[in-house]
Amino acid sequence: METLITADQIHQRVGELADEIERDYPADDEIHLVGVLKGGFVFMADLVRAMSARVTMDFIAVSSYAQSTKSTGEVRLVKDLDSGLEGRHVIIVEDIVDTGLTLTYLQDILRARAPRSLKTACLLSKPSRRKVDVVVEYIGFTIEDRFVVGYGLDYAEKYRNLRDIEVLDGE
Ligand code: IMP
Ligand code: MG
Repeated sequence: METLITADQIHQRVGELADEIERDYPADDEIHLVGVLKGGFVFMADLVRAMSARVTMDFIAVSSYAQSTKSTGEVRLVKDLDSGLEGRHVIIVEDIVDTGLTLTYLQDILRARAPRSLKTACLLSKPSRRKVDVVVEYIGFTIEDRFVVGYGLDYAEKYRNLRDIEVLDGE
């Protein structure tokens, strides 16, 4: 596998994103991060630890690629949040925005819960693959159309634990 983004580069960029997010919200306001399982869990863990104590968090799970590198375009809610979002500053934390279908679905269902504000943070973006226009306020890295694994991202549930982001062989 070929390394696309090293653990050091990720670490630095996640720190920058955390600073940017902190600056964008009034100092005493709570920020509620919604991590998207499973792919977003590593990014979420690093992002929250680069932020201040005013952060709270919850997790949601949606189905994405079923053992394949091709999107079915079908999104299903697998695990819902534990707590409500009404009146809260919410940020969706996701590993990657590809076609944009998953995030569009998530933004729609979470916006319906009346958060005070709703934004999205993605570590990676593949703009060339977009099928729907989706707004992502915080993007770590913009990458080309290559299938990547590591730092939470999987291929058939493997490689999520790699520290770097790597391009999968044969893609
Ligand atoms: P979208 O709905 O097409 O934007 O797909 C988003 C989801 O597809 C992400 O949350 C990932 O789980 C998965 N995905 C998209 N591209 C990649 C990739 O290069 N590697 C691993 N998973 C990916
Ligand atoms: Mg995902």
